[in-house]
Amino acid sequence: MGTTDRISRYLTAHDLAENLARDVRQGLRKRPKVLPPKYFYDARGSAMFEEITRLAEYYPTRAEEAILTNWATEIAELAEGEMLVELGSGSSTKTRLLLDAMRTTGRLRWYVPVDVSDTALQGAMEALGADYPDLQMHGVVADFEQHLEHLPQGSHRMIAFLGGTIGNLEPAQRAAFLAAVRAGLNDSDRLLLGTDLVKDPDRLVAAYDDAAGVTANFNRNVLYVINRALRADFVPSAFEHVAVWDAKHEWIEMRLRSTSAQTVRIRDLDLEVVFEAGEEMRTEVSAKFRQEGVEKELAAAGFAVESWWTDPGNDFAVSLAVPV
Ligand code: SAH
Ligand code: TRP
Repeated sequence: MGTTDRISRYLTAHDLAENLARDVRQGLRKRPKVLPPKYFYDARGSAMFEEITRLAEYYPTRAEEAILTNWATEIAELAEGEMLVELGSGSSTKTRLLLDAMRTTGRLRWYVPVDVSDTALQGAMEALGADYPDLQMHGVVADFEQHLEHLPQGSHRMIAFLGGTIGNLEPAQRAAFLAAVRAGLNDSDRLLLGTDLVKDPDRLVAAYDDAAGVTANFNRNVLYVINRALRADFVPSAFEHVAVWDAKHEWIEMRLRSTSAQTVRIRDLDLEVVFEAGEEMRTEVSAKFRQEGVEKELAAAGFAVESWWTDPGNDFAVSLAVPV
């Protein structure tokens, strides 16, 4: 049986194209203009994100990995999970630390990675299959903001949401997302949440604007996605990557700045979009958290934080939350 036999798809390429068309139409009508972030992760974007995780400036992956290295055994013992469901699993690299610890408890049976990126999911499952022959895997191509009801039922499930990806949702979306996660859980299930922490703005900005320009290319990748999917003619090199720290919202805001006055044609939307020289459109936020804030947001969604772990440098946190 091939890996692809064990993947359920709730989000087809056709759905993605329809969602993209709707989001691009709405976003480019706003002032300032906005482009929707979840479309960064086509095959090329997912590979670029993996490159980001290895950059000297991008500390979150290493910090979260340090936490899991130190605490996975305790996490596994507290959670007593039989199934690990991971939202936005990407390459599932750090997940191995969790799988190893959960396997040691003798309870783990299932791993369910969930991602919008079909290629990332397939790559992750192939790599894991070789090293975890006894683990049953069921991949799910889905949008974690839309398709949570399709996740496998059961008890003793641990829902992991790592990488600080929750920070890519805005506060209202986060509240809705956490409430939807909570609604699907029962008393024996747990939520494991990775959150990047507020810190020196210079380090934050560097993590999202690296010297080699990898993040800049990642940000521009959304333009390639739109060009291909909606037959648009964005010239990606005519947009500069911008990352700014918004101290009021405590988030990093990623933007693309038009380097000249230009008009972009989006054929499938029958739309012409005019950009002024220097005009910035927003592509992504990456919120940074404090412990009180995480506890508050989780409490509002019906969770209590059972444990809170940070790396030695206090850069990142992982929390284990219980439904209440
Ligand atoms: N968890 C990994 C990857 C983080 S990058 C890590 O910590 O390194 C964010 C991942 O979430 C990407 O793999 C992306 O494809 C996925 N993703 C982004 N938005 C999503 C959505 N709405 N639904 C499902 N997956 C999503
Ligand atoms: N979840 C990652 C984060 O917020 C995603 C990310 C890293 C990202 N670098 C980016 C998203 C640059 C858009 C642009 O840290």
